[in-house]
This record gives sequence, C-alpha cells and structure tokens, in this order.
Amino acid sequence: MCGIVGYVGHRDVVPVLLEGLTRLEYRGYDSAGVAALRREGSLSIRRAAGKLVNLKAELEDSPLAGHYGLGHTRWATHGKPTTENAHPHQDADGRIVLVHNGIIENFLDLRAGLEANGVDFVSDTDTEVIVHLVASHYEGNLENAVRRTLADLEGIYAIVVASVDEPDKLVVARQGPPIVIGVGEHENFIASDVPPVLEYTRDVIFLDDGLVGIVTPDSVVVTDHAGAIVDAPAQQISWDPITAEKGGYEHFMLKEIFEQPTAVRDSLVGRVNRRAIEIDLGELNLEEELANSMSELLLLGCGTSWHAALVGRYWIEKLAGLPVKVDQASEFRYRDPLVAANSVACALTQSGETADTLAAMREAKARGATLWSICNVVGSMATRISDGVLLTQAGPEISVASTKAFTSQLTCLYLMALKLGELRGRLSHEAVELRLHALARIPGQIEELLTHADKFAGVAERVAHFKQFLFIGRGVMYPIALEGALKLKELSYLHAHGYPAGEMKHGPIALIDDGVPVVALAPQSSLYEKTASNMQEARARDGFIIGVGTEGDDALAEFCDELMTIPDCLPEFSPLLAIVPLQLLAYHVAVQLGCDVDQPRNLAKSVTVE
Ligand code: G6P
Repeated sequence: MCGIVGYVGHRDVVPVLLEGLTRLEYRGYDSAGVAALRREGSLSIRRAAGKLVNLKAELEDSPLAGHYGLGHTRWATHGKPTTENAHPHQDADGRIVLVHNGIIENFLDLRAGLEANGVDFVSDTDTEVIVHLVASHYEGNLENAVRRTLADLEGIYAIVVASVDEPDKLVVARQGPPIVIGVGEHENFIASDVPPVLEYTRDVIFLDDGLVGIVTPDSVVVTDHAGAIVDAPAQQISWDPITAEKGGYEHFMLKEIFEQPTAVRDSLVGRVNRRAIEIDLGELNLEEELANSMSELLLLGCGTSWHAALVGRYWIEKLAGLPVKVDQASEFRYRDPLVAANSVACALTQSGETADTLAAMREAKARGATLWSICNVVGSMATRISDGVLLTQAGPEISVASTKAFTSQLTCLYLMALKLGELRGRLSHEAVELRLHALARIPGQIEELLTHADKFAGVAERVAHFKQFLFIGRGVMYPIALEGALKLKELSYLHAHGYPAGEMKHGPIALIDDGVPVVALAPQSSLYEKTASNMQEARARDGFIIGVGTEGDDALAEFCDELMTIPDCLPEFSPLLAIVPLQLLAYHVAVQLGCDVDQPRNLAKSVTVE
C-alpha cells in the first residue's frame, strides 16, 4: 500500500523523507520518489521503479536538497510500477507537486475534461488528475485550490500537496487512507503511519476523514472542506522507536514471532486483574444489559484477521452461548447481509485501516448494529468509528505477514468470550477464574515453545522442496490450519491449502501422494482421535505427515514423519500455541527458498483500497 511522507522545517528535507519512506517499507510498494522544494522557488523530483535502494542510487547520481518536500512509496493500482507512474506528480508548469494514496474512481471523466482543456498527461495514474486539478483551481492560495479540487474527486485519498509559490507550506487532505501529522519544534511531519515521525516527536494528530491540514514549520491548522477551522488536538504516542527496529533478528517477522509472549501478556494487562479473577474490558462498553440483549455477534475481517474471527466464533458460541456469524469483510459489504435487531458487529483489524473492513463496519452500522473493533492501532479509523474498542497491544507489526497481531487478536477474543459468558450467566465465577489462570500461563508456554525454534527450522529444511501442502484441523484447529496455510503461501509462494480435517475425504484426499505433505493439527482435545484417523488416512496414501501435537504424545509420533509439539494446555487455548510452529515453519521454508520474508511479493501490510 502506498506510503506518504512530508516534511517542513529546518532540516535538509531529503534525508528526512528517505528515512520516513524506509520506515513505511513494511506497507509494501513497487516504486518510490521524493520532491524537494527550496524557498527561493525551485522544485525538483527524483523517482525510481522498484525498491528504495534504486531511488537512493538515483539521488546519489543526481543529488537533491530542499527546505520542504514530499516522499512516496507507490503500490500500483492504475498504471504499471514504472518511474513515470511513480509519485510525486507535478503540474504542467512544474510549480505544484503532489503525492497520493488511494484511488480516484472518477479519474477517467476528470482526465477527459482536463485533456479537453489542453492538459497533457505524462503518466497512466489516477493521481495525475489531482495535481492538474489543483493547478487549474490555483489562484494564489494552495489550501483553497486543494479544497476546490476535493469537491471534484470521487473515491478515497490521502494527499499531500506543495507549491513553489508558497514556501514552507504543505497541504494535506484525507478521505479514507490514514494520515498522521507529527508536531515538532519549528518543524512538522506528515506520514501515512506513526513510525516515520516517532524519531522526531511523540505528539501526533490523526487527521480525520473530510479534513484538510495546512502545515508550516510553526503551525498546523486543520479545516473542513469549507475552510472552517476544526479542533484537532495532538495526542501523545508512547511507542518506543526501538520497537520498530529488528532488534538483532534477521527479519522483522522472526522478531515479531518471538514477541508473541509479550504481545499476549500486554493484551491481558489492565484487563485481567493480578489475582486473575476479574476481567475489565472498559473501553468495549460491554454492559450486562447489552450482553443479554444482544441477538448475535457478527465478526468481520480480512486475511489473518478473518482467521482470528473464525477462532473467536468457536470460543464465543461455546463460552457465551451467543450465536456468532463470521464474514470476510469484502463479502459482507457486497451481499446485502441480514443484520438482526440488537446485533453487535465486531471488526478484527490489525491496522484499523483495511478498506473492505471499514466498509463492512459502516454497512453493519447502517443496518443497525452496534459497532466494536479489535484493533492494534490507536487512533486508526476502525477505532474511531466504533462504539467500543479492544486494543490488541501487540505494538507495531512491521512484517507484512501478521503474527503477533494475530495472537493478540485471539487473546482479546478469548477475553471477550469469557466476559460475555460471565455477563450472560453462562459461566460461573469459578469457571471464569479457572480459565483466567490457565490463560495467564499461555505467554510462558509460548516462550517455552519458542525454545524449540531450531527444531521447527529443521522440519522446514526437510520439506522446503515440496511444491504443495495440505493443512488440516478440526474444530478450533480448523482456522489454525487456514492460517498456517496462508502463512506458508504468503511467504514462500508455495501452494498451501487449509481444510477442515473431516472434509478431507470429500475432495482433497485425491491430492495426496508422496509429493504432498499434510500438516495436521492434532493437540489433545475431544476431536483428537478423529484428526488422528485423518492423519492415518493421509499416511496410507504416502503423504508426508507433519503433525502438531501435545508434548509427550508418543502415539502421534508413531505415524508422523515430523512432529512439532506444543505444551499441554486447556484444549480451547491450543490455537494460541499451535499457530507458533506453523509461523516458524512458514518463515524457515521462505528463508530456505530465498524469499523476501518481510515484504512478500504483491502483498501489502495495510490494504486501503478494495
Ligand atoms: C493484508 C495483510 C494481512 C492482513 C490483512 C487484513 O492482506 O497482508 O496480513 O491480515 O490485510 O489486515 P488488517 O489490518 O485489517 O488486519
């Protein structure tokens, strides 16, 4: 997904922009560029297809300096990832320059209109129409020209605009994709996310949809589209910039896998009291009355977050006796869904900015549901449109493939299930207490599991040459099979299919031979025997069996080619443990195959377009 940075202040602008773009690399991109403007009235742009290293090489060949400027990493939507299509884009006179994240849906009409007025286009992007429109509306005041332009646009955007005619000024606008303004001393920063600004300031303004910011070295003024000033106070961010570094690990993903004990623990802090007997989900606004009047819970999400939702369904139905529906947000928003009276819709979203998830949330709200979100980003759009929020406390997740955000989502979902169960009278205090004690042990058990990380690397070495994989599980292990398969395909580009173990004989069994490893999730539970039978069926067809089972399960070891074990736990907690070996399996296979682990091809961390 595109990344935006902007700077105005006393520093040389280009290093600040490049540093900022580097911190946004996790979003995924295919080209990059910067524009530097000087107070004396010059504007220069450098762009390059591919990774930031290419832009840096371009800047070494042809250096730039300036007092204020913009930078961008582009994730192509309209037009190929070429240098010509890379941002920033400028108007025909080279006086106004712009970067954009999002999609302008009516760009073809706008482009035709501009071309009819003699404007020549030099790129295939939807973005270029915006800069020409700003130029056509420009009458000596950039923010006015931007506001008039916004009235022409249909779609979603975050834009930053600068002009040589108005030194030391950046105009920023948002309708959809996130924008953060970092407030410094005689300098200000703009970015798509918090990490680029953290090095300089902890005071940030999360720009709301429909607003325009006018940013100079000594001021940030926020207005609506009509120009009326809107109060937009800065908030203090507590994240340590160091947490966004790799911390000695070879990849962010590995670091984040190892951060899961902390992420799970932090997600419990302040919610489960020290004696582990009470749950406080204050910010969710879940009162007894709501818990008992709710007719159903709709869980919405995409990708890994959807898998977390699928696990949540098992827990909430079982512990709270509440009907749960789970939808991929991209499907929910387009299928005219029925939302019963007194429904609560809860979005699972690591970023809080996934376009499909936000649209599904708005759809559910429009159909009368109370809106909750389980989210990892304070101040993100999902949290702002929700009536209740549970923050996952995983810290920034940089690797595109989600790991610690997932286990933190599971932790929050489990707490939600327990709280609902308690408030609805389905769980006694003793039952809650028993589970909270067991849950409090999970971070330590993940730590224990991670001490076997080398063993999982060894399994990866044995299987990295296979071309396709089947992942199977039953009950609460089925979504973990889906997530394990997703991790493997995202990272290593191998075909991996997640399936309910009980459905194997209805199709996928036809695939199994000695070239297809079967990853089977069989920790101790009431479904253990059934899954074990499915594993034997696969083995009888020469499948290479990789089991995930409970420590000390010698019987399972007998019919596995490789067995990855997890510590003994209450069966309902096994998703929180069983996913860890699968994350490490996917990670090590990808490393073996020389894949770009942290930024897999074609993927983006935060998909802010549908
Ligand atoms: C992208 C990411 C996935 C993530 C999904 C949903 O596809 O690559 O890792 O699971 O978006 O993102 P969200 O931020 O809404 O959880």
